[in-house]
Amino acid sequence: MSHYVAVADADAIAEGSSKVFTIDDIRVAVCRVEGEYYAFEDVCTHDDAPLGEGRLLGFEIECPRHGARFDVRDGHVTRMPAVAPLPTFPVKVEGGRILVDLEED
Ligand code: FES
Repeated sequence: MSHYVAVADADAIAEGSSKVFTIDDIRVAVCRVEGEYYAFEDVCTHDDAPLGEGRLLGFEIECPRHGARFDVRDGHVTRMPAVAPLPTFPVKVEGGRILVDLEED
């Protein structure tokens, strides 16, 4: 069952950047790439570093601790040392607000 939660105004996240929100005790990073929004858990699967603080390189987020990278579109690992995929969440924009669905991944 979907459960979309509003996290921010759509224009609050600039192209090529990300922001972190805490929703129901889950830290979620939302980024904007090529006009689309992507949401993923703000916790690196390698050693729990805060991924939202990492660099965004196109569709990849780079972990600030050891440099692992994940594709923000589906969470798959694109560079070691992480091996487990990153949980991602569905995102939509309605009425100028970004909504994230935490019930799915
Ligand atoms: S904690 Fe992210 S690469 Fe190690």
